[in-house]
Amino acid sequence: MKLFLVAGARPNFMKIGPLVKEMEKFKEIKPVIVHTGQHYDYEMSAIFFKDLDIPKPHIYLGVGSGLHGEQTGKVMIEMEKQIIKHRPDVVVVVGDVNSTLATAIVASKLYVPVAHVEAGLRSFDKTMPEETNRKVTDVLSEYLFTTEESGNENLRREGVVDEKIHFVGNIMIEAIINAKCKTQPRLTELGGVQNIKLSINNLQSTIFNLKSPYAILTLHRPSNVDNRDNLIRILDAIVEISRKIHLIFPMHPRTSKMIREFKLLEKLNSLYVIKPLGYLEFIALEERAKFVLTDSGGMQEETTYFGVPCLTIRENTERPVTIIKGTNKLVGTNKEKIIEESYKILDGYGKKGSIPPLWDGKTAERIVDILLHSSPGSSAE
Ligand code: UD1
Ligand code: UDP
Repeated sequence: MKLFLVAGARPNFMKIGPLVKEMEKFKEIKPVIVHTGQHYDYEMSAIFFKDLDIPKPHIYLGVGSGLHGEQTGKVMIEMEKQIIKHRPDVVVVVGDVNSTLATAIVASKLYVPVAHVEAGLRSFDKTMPEETNRKVTDVLSEYLFTTEESGNENLRREGVVDEKIHFVGNIMIEAIINAKCKTQPRLTELGGVQNIKLSINNLQSTIFNLKSPYAILTLHRPSNVDNRDNLIRILDAIVEISRKIHLIFPMHPRTSKMIREFKLLEKLNSLYVIKPLGYLEFIALEERAKFVLTDSGGMQEETTYFGVPCLTIRENTERPVTIIKGTNKLVGTNKEKIIEESYKILDGYGKKGSIPPLWDGKTAERIVDILLHSSPGSSAE
């Protein structure tokens, strides 16, 4: 079986890592790793291949940044050539980024079955580009691998036949489990288990003592960072919170760009603003954080797995299990609400959750088993 494993942006790499590792066990599977190049900075891309032990991509499309149509179109043009050249038996896409959608469209038109890992998630928010990507990808997929029960329900409601839906659990959690033995040595390498060297504003370095309580902030949703008023409101809340706890802010390049454009950098003097972190450092910090403030999709899941309270700076989530069973709480973009909920956590009232079903480190095994033993659109059982 020749398989394309497609990844393009940061949250894709930790989803293909466990699949590559599992596929290496089977001589009858030949995975071809295709990197679209949607993300390309070292700290948004290459570092994840190193940290997650993923082999160098066999194919690099180098599409880069652009408007949605331009970026999606470039992936389609380049991916189509590669699918025609290599004729894979299955194309595996993950998540909900533009590279996921673009690949699903061209593969489907070339009659190559598409397998979507992390299918069925819905925020029901049409203003999110990811919602379009998820819905279209799911319509075009033959194998829909889901992470939580809401995904199964959404797909059934949209008319997907049961035979295509495979509840396999959460592949992101498997990446964490696989990396566990490497995070501690990485912290030691970086200056000891207690101290981590942070390069602030890319200018000066400081030694941060991991024993002092800290929270992590990440932001990158266009609705939060591309709109000046929203961004100011969120940052004002964050600055207020930073009076009570150290706040580490590994800044996404989109957010960096916007903060510079809006001339808001000086607002952040009380935070530890750093470049995006590599995977091992980041999950080590995340696991030890007092709480996390974020608009990331994947981090809502990771914090639930770690049992770390998460305040999601959004009005909705496509991952409701993190609220129902996990440690996640939606706080929207209201300044007072963000501050109030953060203080509740500091006062000891952070959400305590449990780990959702099948977030158990066996997701890749289930996926590979289904790909090997069932034909597209049919049940393996
Ligand atoms: C993308 C995904 C989003 C995902 C996020 C994860 C889409 C529509 N969006 O958003 O779902 O949650 O990745 O991080 O697919 N940039 C760099 N260097 C890079 C990559 C990007 O400087 O390596 C800058 C560029 O200015 C670029 C901007 O970030 O224009 C946005 O990048 P893009 O990939 O378009 O969207 P993200 O916001 O990263
Ligand atoms: N992450 C990372 N370094 C960082 C910030 C995030 O390694 O500085 C990891 C995080 O642990 C998670 C993934 O990146 O596994 C989430 O990606 P992102 O928030 O960019 O995308 P989303 O999940 O929102 O699509």
